[in-house]
Amino acid sequence: MIPPETVERIFERANIEEVISDFVSLKKSGASYKGCCPFHDEKTPSFMVSPAKGIFKCFGCGKGGNAVSFIMEHERMPYVDALKFLAKKYNIEIVETELSEEDKEKKSTRESLQVVNTYANTFFQEQLVETDEGKSIGLSYFKERGFTDETIEKFQLGYSPQKKDAFTRTALDKGYKIEYLEQTGLTIVRESAYYDRFRARVMFPIHSLSGNVIGFGGRIMVTDTEKKLAKYLNSPESELYNKSKTLYGVYFSRSEIVKKDECILVEGYTDVMSMHQSGIENVVASSGTSLTVEQILLIKRFTTNIVIVYDGDAAGIKASFRGINMILEQGLNVKVLIMPDGEDPDSFAQKHSKEELQSYILSEKKDFIQFKTEFFAEQTKNDPVERARLIQDIVQTISVIPNQIERSVYLSESSKMLGIGEDILVDQTQKLIIDRRSKEYSKQVFEKQKTTVKKQLEIAQKKGEDSYSFTERDILYLLILYGLEHVTLPTTDTEIVVKDYVHQEIVDGGMEFLHDLHKELFEEYFDNIDDKQTEISKYLTHHSNQILLHLVVDMISSDKKLSDFWAKKESFVETERDKLPNLVIETVFTYKKRRIELERNKLIEKMGVEPEEEKLFLLGQQISKYNKTINDISKDLKHVS
Ligand code: CTP
Ligand code: MN
Repeated sequence: MIPPETVERIFERANIEEVISDFVSLKKSGASYKGCCPFHDEKTPSFMVSPAKGIFKCFGCGKGGNAVSFIMEHERMPYVDALKFLAKKYNIEIVETELSEEDKEKKSTRESLQVVNTYANTFFQEQLVETDEGKSIGLSYFKERGFTDETIEKFQLGYSPQKKDAFTRTALDKGYKIEYLEQTGLTIVRESAYYDRFRARVMFPIHSLSGNVIGFGGRIMVTDTEKKLAKYLNSPESELYNKSKTLYGVYFSRSEIVKKDECILVEGYTDVMSMHQSGIENVVASSGTSLTVEQILLIKRFTTNIVIVYDGDAAGIKASFRGINMILEQGLNVKVLIMPDGEDPDSFAQKHSKEELQSYILSEKKDFIQFKTEFFAEQTKNDPVERARLIQDIVQTISVIPNQIERSVYLSESSKMLGIGEDILVDQTQKLIIDRRSKEYSKQVFEKQKTTVKKQLEIAQKKGEDSYSFTERDILYLLILYGLEHVTLPTTDTEIVVKDYVHQEIVDGGMEFLHDLHKELFEEYFDNIDDKQTEISKYLTHHSNQILLHLVVDMISSDKKLSDFWAKKESFVETERDKLPNLVIETVFTYKKRRIELERNKLIEKMGVEPEEEKLFLLGQQISKYNKTINDISKDLKHVS
């Protein structure tokens, strides 16, 4: 349990735009910030952050909440962990009450795996710098490769000893459970014997976006060719580590990627490290896998510009070609730089000065058309078939770009570079696009049908959400924003506090909310508000119940969500506070009117199936009583507005 005071302090310190900008690149837009939503794939920003309200809201996918729920959603953490995460970021100490045995048991697997990995990371680092074996084999290796102590420390490099179970034994002695050691892949259990996965390897911890060690890569040290051991060995997939969604170096590079608005993509661990050591810090590697769409989307949270810097060997070039198309398909811009033959960014960085590396990258990165044209220049110079093939290839690549304007920019560039008429290229591209579309046609038709049905359902639902439900929301909105205001009512000319008036008219009037969530929020409100001017809207936007929080955020983040009634009034609510008394009455009266109408309608329904004459008569009486009240309220309403 985290004490409530600490929770409040975390909320106070955790500036929402600061928290979110660690993950999303935000641009100022009026009083708010805008960016591309990290929760769904989008090209135009519809993700809003309001520092004043302390909330975020995506008008594309509907996700919304406060700083804590952002972390929960984004880092896939439970509530308490998200609080801890923010506490750590803002150096707020959490004095947690002692965990019970039962609670300890309950800690999620994820968390346990995380604890094991964090321990392993420390273990490997200690082995590297504190043991003779580690120093003579691992550390000397890193030094030989030109890595400074600073780089070694920054990337938390380590060493795993030769002994077959050195790590597992130590970890078990320290009380780490074998099941978690096995699940992280650090320990291999075979016929009830334990083996370390990583042995006699230098270790590269792989960090998540938020800096947790989620896996490892280990490079072999012994050059025993007979055993045919893989040069690099990686952690297996686990609850924590998903290779295809991970980029090596992203934790160390992401702020620089945002600043430079560019991400350099390399192949290996050592490439990332050497580049950092040379002062180029916007670098990540897709180590251990060929580039995936998920990795591209991860980069897209920070920038839309990628520079591929792959090894100057056949594999590197092939991978670059593949990467170009994938990146373009996701709507990002791509440039390419191939290292001189036989070099990789690491070896190049080690052989050249910082300045040389930096200017090399700056001057040699080429857009993909230039890259392809130059790459095939020799082959295509005198061979018309090869030339046609190159043109076809470039057109094909351009055709995958989703944005039409970008496509035409590239087409006119390739027309110049290839010396071929632009209209021919446009024509070819168009053909390819149509071709692809027709192939996807049946699939699209199917998808369309699905969406149509879904839309129809939504519309029906919206209609079903009758005007009554909106009046409940209006009351809540009134309470949250103006509950503590003192107003003088035009009807009675007495001063009241808005919340007291609402309570008196609704609760004391024997009415109760019908919508479950509204009811809960209504009760929460009156349970927590006190006369000491508790900042109730703050209390509610800090709420730990995610469903309720979502409702609150929905209500206060968008006037679209208000009923027409409020939307109409809103413009002058903000400018003329003295309209508040009228609005209070209108809101409360409208609510009451709709509530009574609802009761009356129920009775009318009952009448339709009531066989006994006497009861029918009573129902009729009751209904006309209701009708009279409804009429009275309508008159009063006319009077105030
Ligand atoms: N890789 C891997 N498994 C292998 C080989 C490579 O996971 N068997 C990954 C590693 O992340 C490696 C990257 O692919 O960093 C690039 O491979 P390579 O160029 O062979 O590695 P380098 O980083 O250049 O390795 P080194 O300089 O240490 O030889
Ligand atoms: Mn390499």
